[in-house]
Amino acid sequence: MDSDRAARMRARFESREFGMPPPQTHHAAAVTIRRLRDAADAAAVLEINAAAFGKDAGPAAMTFHQLRLNARDVVSLVAEADAGLVGHAFFCPVSIECDTGLIEGMGLGELAVRPAWQSRGIGGRLTLSGFDILREAACPFVVVIGHAEYYPRLGFEPGSAHGLRCQWDGVPADNFMVKMLDPDRMRAVSGVATYRDV
Ligand SMILES: CC(C)(COP(=O)(O)OP(=O)(O)OC[C@H]1O[C@@H](n2cnc3c(N)ncnc32)[C@H](O)[C@@H]1OP(=O)(O)O)[C@@H](O)C(=O)NCCC(=O)NCCS
Repeated sequence: MDSDRAARMRARFESREFGMPPPQTHHAAAVTIRRLRDAADAAAVLEINAAAFGKDAGPAAMTFHQLRLNARDVVSLVAEADAGLVGHAFFCPVSIECDTGLIEGMGLGELAVRPAWQSRGIGGRLTLSGFDILREAACPFVVVIGHAEYYPRLGFEPGSAHGLRCQWDGVPADNFMVKMLDPDRMRAVSGVATYRDV
């Protein structure tokens, strides 16, 4: 990605507060989706992860925490209820090197909702709100490593269907998925998707 495009993408990430998409079900929770603002929000996100993932948060969790606090070109969203923060989604830079050059996009690094608030549409709304922000920033794709039964309902498809692979050999093909935000730009793109080093 050229530096102008990167600067434009970053400016858009930073500038935009956004509205909440309409509730998806009649059980939808009364939450506001907004950007993560400060260290107190980031601390709440760690608590949400602990509650949602238990001991399975994984070694990437603290890396994501550092990125949340320090990196500018990430998108970090929270779901806020009267009781406090109840869910979050975190997107960070991912690139694909292919014949036509380096294509910059994003990866959904973490998505978590407090157990008592799950199955009320919050995970979906966090993810779709992220797509809206990224689409406006001209981000062409979002990859995810996650549950093959959950993410397709948010529009993710197997990476293998588009000739895309994960950088890590241990990830089962079914669990590496991609959401095309700009299918035209992605038409000729295939290769290995790589998360940016911290
Ligand atoms: C996955 C998660 C973020 C979904 O958030 P959520 O707010 O409950 O999601 P939504 O309300 O948008 O969607 C709920 C639906 O997804 C389904 N779902 C949730 N997790 C699922 C999974 N692992 N596999 C398949 N379906 C799943 C629920 O059964 C529910 O189905 P229904 O609508 O038919 O009742 C949440 O369950 C969570 O935090 N889980 C623990 C952490 C985690 O696994 N994060 C994802 C890492 S890959």
